[in-house]
Amino acid sequence: MSQLVEKAEQIAKQAYAPYSNYLVGAVARMNDGTEFAGTNVENAAYPLTQCAEKTAIGAASTAGYRPGDIAVVGISASPCGGCRQWLHEWRVPLVEYRREDGTIGTASAAELLPDTWELPG
Ligand code: THU
Repeated sequence: MSQLVEKAEQIAKQAYAPYSNYLVGAVARMNDGTEFAGTNVENAAYPLTQCAEKTAIGAASTAGYRPGDIAVVGISASPCGGCRQWLHEWRVPLVEYRREDGTIGTASAAELLPDTWELPG
């Protein structure tokens, strides 16, 4: 059981997902304990849809937090490939997520996106 995943599942109820009806929530907890929540926000132009993880991390970024400041992200679903890239960028050491089978997965962002590239410099 993960309290952060349960929180993300509560937040998911706020999702705007009229096209897929797949409601996703995410909560990013900073090292100082501050939490930022996010949901997916869909659009009639489907590819413009925003994932829950990006909404939560975007809120943290807007508040001034930077990669390395996030302690853990809880998600109500397994993160998609694009969100794994975001979690990696933000150096998230612990990601907790609900799997399709109901169990909870825990992994670092590096484990979720192994062998990725780094920008030079
Ligand atoms: N979705 C997320 O919010 N996060 C993920 O990691 C997986 C997918 C959303 C996007 C879309 O609104 C819906 O789930 C179906 O793909």
